[in-house]
Amino acid sequence: MTGVGVRRVVAGNWKMHKTADEAVAFVDAFLPLLPSIPESVDIVLCPPFTALDAVCRRLRGHDRVNVGAQTMSWAQNGAFTGEISAPMLTDIGVRYVILGHSERRQLFNETDGDVRRKVVAALTNGLTPIVAVGETLAEREAGTADDCVTAQTRAALDGLAPDATAKIVLAYEPIWAIGTGRNCDAGDADAVMHAIRTCMRGLERVPILYGGSVKIDNVFDYMQRPNIDGGLVGGASLDPEGFAALLRAACEGTRV
Ligand code: PGA
Repeated sequence: MTGVGVRRVVAGNWKMHKTADEAVAFVDAFLPLLPSIPESVDIVLCPPFTALDAVCRRLRGHDRVNVGAQTMSWAQNGAFTGEISAPMLTDIGVRYVILGHSERRQLFNETDGDVRRKVVAALTNGLTPIVAVGETLAEREAGTADDCVTAQTRAALDGLAPDATAKIVLAYEPIWAIGTGRNCDAGDADAVMHAIRTCMRGLERVPILYGGSVKIDNVFDYMQRPNIDGGLVGGASLDPEGFAALLRAACEGTRV
C-alpha cells in the first residue's frame, strides 16, 4: 500500500560483483521470468561500469527492465582520470544512476556537495537519480536518525526546481542495515521515510525506496507501509531466480 500515484520501483545494486559475461548470463536467465512479475513495479538493474554496455545491449527491446549505474561524475567531460560522465551513460542506454550510496560517502569521501552536483548532472542529462541517504548506528542510537537523513536529503536536492525534484527517486538505507542481515524494522523505516517525505516540498509523489538487507521474506512487510514505495536491494539481487522471486513477493497483495 504505497502512496496514491507514487511509482513502485525495485532496484538491484550489484555493487562490485559480476563480469560482463556474468551480467549477461543474469539477464538471459532473468528475461524469461519477467512474465511472472506483476507490471506494477519498475525494475532497475545496476551492474558495475564494465558490464553496463553489455547489459544494455542484451536488454534492447525489453523495456520493462531499466539499467542504472552505481555512481558517476558531476562533470560533463574533461580531465578527470577514472571518472564516467552522465553523457557516457545515456549514450549506451543507461536510464538511472544511484548517487550518494553510503559506501561512496564513507569509503570514497563523497560529500553532500558532491551528491548535489551529481544530482544536477544526472537530471540535466535525462538520467533518473536514485539518491541514497542513511544514518550510522551511532546516529540512530543517539536518536538523530531523522535529523541526519533529512539534512542529507535537503543538501542533495537544495535549490532544485519543483519539476526537477519530481523526477528523482530517493532511497533510505540505514548504514547499519546494509549487507549485515540486520534489517531495520519496517515500522521504524516507515517513520524515518515519513520524515524524509515531509522534510521539503515536492516529495509527495517521489518514490522512496528502503534498502538494507531486503530479502524475499521481509520485502512485503516494507512494501505495505505508506511511505515505502520500493526497495534498493544488494545481495538479494545477484541471483536471477532469487531476484525475480523477491520482485513477486514485493508485489504480492499490493494494489495494481
Ligand atoms: P544489501 O545492500 O541489500 O546487501 O544490504 C543494499 C545496498 O547497499 O544498496
